[in-house]
Amino acid sequence: MQYRELKPFPDGFLWSAATAAYQIEGAWDADGKGPSIIDTWTPPEGTSDFTVASDHYHRYAEDVALLAELGLTAYRFSISWPRIIPDGTGEVNPAGVAFYHRLIDALVEHGIEPIVTMYHFDLPLALDQQGGWSNRATIDAYARYAEVLFREYGEKVKYWLTINEQNNMILYGEVIGTARPGTTKRELYQTNHHMMLAQARAFRLCHALVPDGRIGPAPNFALVYPETCHPLDVLAADDLNVIRHWLYFDLAVDGVYNSIAWAYLEEKGAAPEILPGDLEILTADRPDFLAFNYYNTQTVARPSGDDAERQSRVADQQMSPGEEGVYDSADNPYLARTEFGWEVDPIGLRASFRALWNRYRLPLLVTENGLGAFDRLIDGQVHDPYRIDYLRDHIAQIQLAISDGVEVIGYCPWSAIDLVSTHQGVAKRYGFVYVDRDEFDLKELARYRKDSFAWYQRVIASNGAELG
Ligand code: BG6
Repeated sequence: MQYRELKPFPDGFLWSAATAAYQIEGAWDADGKGPSIIDTWTPPEGTSDFTVASDHYHRYAEDVALLAELGLTAYRFSISWPRIIPDGTGEVNPAGVAFYHRLIDALVEHGIEPIVTMYHFDLPLALDQQGGWSNRATIDAYARYAEVLFREYGEKVKYWLTINEQNNMILYGEVIGTARPGTTKRELYQTNHHMMLAQARAFRLCHALVPDGRIGPAPNFALVYPETCHPLDVLAADDLNVIRHWLYFDLAVDGVYNSIAWAYLEEKGAAPEILPGDLEILTADRPDFLAFNYYNTQTVARPSGDDAERQSRVADQQMSPGEEGVYDSADNPYLARTEFGWEVDPIGLRASFRALWNRYRLPLLVTENGLGAFDRLIDGQVHDPYRIDYLRDHIAQIQLAISDGVEVIGYCPWSAIDLVSTHQGVAKRYGFVYVDRDEFDLKELARYRKDSFAWYQRVIASNGAELG
């Protein structure tokens, strides 16, 4: 639908930007931090690991000052679980706790609302060595960690995100380093069940311990289109929407397994064991809002049985290879691609809002959205008009979604400042602030404002009225 007049962004809209601890902080073993599963993961050849990242752990004050200059009214970051509880279950690390107090205090002093992701891929290694999420004891470990966070920071932090991209950890964990190669589907969906239980317990704890606390899940959302209007293509798209999205959101919101997802899990021999009492935990509480990371949509067709085509596809967390007997991936001829092959679909963001809103009627928060590109620093400047175009087009679609009557509470582009990408090193940059380092040459790690910095500053200052 087209509107003659658009509704404005609401007052109090959270103009934010996002990062994640292991991708930005560095200091991977400083001040008592324990190793995480990511610290033992070998990045693809030619790309950096996460040991120094953007050195935010030591430069957080300078970084927060830049975020304040940018005009952010909110900032999404993650807390590193192994910085708080180094071995996942034992003593709390006071130095780690103190670091996030300093960071949160700096944000609050600048009038920036903290949005905290409690767990963004970096499971404490000690837990992984005891079976990770396949071990039910990890549910208790997470619930205790959640309680530590709520008691420590609950007076200062109102917005909480339980688990970043749980769906991508299940579906593409080997690419992003959260799943050991060869983990079976059965094991993955058992870990998924346990994460759901952990999340449900966090909902309860947050509501019990944080005054005015608001908590939600943060899956990745890549709305699935059928390649054609052939009914079997439509069903294939519906199947992937269920497997990739509704399985996770239905459990988070209503505490129930989507019946189509359950049928798929049974068909694949991957249905998790559900113990007495689990369903009560899942239905005991609900999220206050739904967060989602949005980069693109996906297009699929009915399964053709062409294994060679499927195996030849380059795949990662935003580009499914297809699944035998379920769907084939297809290219969308109407969409451009980034330098890294991800399709670009701003209108798909509006369609995603509608899909989520129609289904759940809960406030929505975009917790990631952005363009990875090979930025160039020349004479202290970074001209990134392609990023401005990308973000402008997506923000315009948010305003259309607001005009559709969807309750959108905020937008956190990825990323606030440059950081190390999940599996493509530092050369794939997303930030408003350039961090001067190469894959293996750390240089000075100096910060430079990109052109997109001044542009986003104007967007925020005008509460979204000036996107030009
Ligand atoms: C999301 C993750 O998958 O996408 C982030 O939550 C990640 O951690 C972002 O960095 C972009 O992906 P990538 O692989 O380009 O870093």
